[in-house]
Amino acid sequence: MNKIHFWKNKNILITGVAGFVGSNLAKNLSNLGSNVIGISQRKNKKNSLLFYENINKKIEIFYCDITDKEKINKIIKKYKIQICFHLAAQVEVGLAKKDPYGTWESNIRGTYTLLELFRKNKKQIKSIIIASSDKAYGEYGLNKMPYDEKYPLKPIFPYDTSKACADMIAKTYASKLFNLPIIITRFSNIYGPGQLNFTALIPGLIKSCIFNRRFKMRGNGESIRDYIYINDIVDIYKILAKNLYSKPKKYSGEIFNAGTNTPYKTKTILKNIFTYKKRIKELSKVNKIIKKNKTSGELQVQYMNYIKLNKNFGWKPKYEFGKVLPEVFKWYEDYFKNTSP
Ligand SMILES: NC(=O)c1ccc[n+]([C@@H]2O[C@H](COP(=O)([O-])OP(=O)(O)OC[C@H]3O[C@@H](n4cnc5c(N)ncnc54)[C@H](O)[C@@H]3O)[C@@H](O)[C@H]2O)c1
Repeated sequence: MNKIHFWKNKNILITGVAGFVGSNLAKNLSNLGSNVIGISQRKNKKNSLLFYENINKKIEIFYCDITDKEKINKIIKKYKIQICFHLAAQVEVGLAKKDPYGTWESNIRGTYTLLELFRKNKKQIKSIIIASSDKAYGEYGLNKMPYDEKYPLKPIFPYDTSKACADMIAKTYASKLFNLPIIITRFSNIYGPGQLNFTALIPGLIKSCIFNRRFKMRGNGESIRDYIYINDIVDIYKILAKNLYSKPKKYSGEIFNAGTNTPYKTKTILKNIFTYKKRIKELSKVNKIIKKNKTSGELQVQYMNYIKLNKNFGWKPKYEFGKVLPEVFKWYEDYFKNTSP
């Protein structure tokens, strides 16, 4: 089965399609000839790669909330969905602390609403990928890194807990009790073209460089994270969905971590981006400011290996942060030239 042939004419549902990962996945799959059906909560076309690159014209979009059982039921039935990537989520960590209720609604209720609908419409669905997160693990400390898929989930902060709940609900639907074909992914921080949430570190830093503005960094720069490029993530999603489709017994209920196993302090990312743009004075000013910042409310150390993905599918990351930075920076420069900030 060659790659293009597999994806051609497959009916694919992407929830959160106007988001960063959803737009990139929709772009890739629509180019391969899949029938992409997207669910988007927002009609606002700003800050979305889907509209910026006219990907919306190649797919069917429905504007509704992921908790809207009736509408989503109609979509699943009408389009005979075979593969689903569940990406819709309230992802802003700060907002989750201010409004945990809204985050529980989207991330937990949204997930069981969707899975319950597939439980009742089992005929066509062959592959469901649920986006959990490295945040679902909670704090394990440096000597327990990288996270292992077998680690129990012990989150505390609201976003992290919401992802862990969705993750566990997905496991129940994958169990012998309900037998839905589900893989759960726990990825580290994703970056790259189309990430237009400027509260995230890399887009926030790049934007501050482009507009010559001071970057307000959360924390003191000492927290450790792993950053994986969006093209690697799109490849992993496709590998997982395709293998689950053809071997549901082997892969259903499995969890896959992915990162690059290359941890960076957030202050190193700051340094790399500012040095690349020769903002050396500004770098030393920001470094002085962040030393006084508190770090509460976020995990200190998180990074991922990809041993399980590699053992099962031979996957390894193709992109390195240092090498793709010029390309990523250029994408944002073009984006700001073509849109009003
Ligand atoms: N970006 C990362 O670094 C990262 C890392 C690990 C896991 N994830 C997970 O991957 C998924 C995609 O992340 P992303 O970076 O593309 O986020 P994103 O915010 O860019 O996209 C999520 C989309 O979901 C939509 N959404 C939110 N609540 C909704 C609701 N109630 N109903 C319908 N739509 C709703 C948002 O409008 C948004 O367009 C999320 O589930 C996230 O938790 C992301």
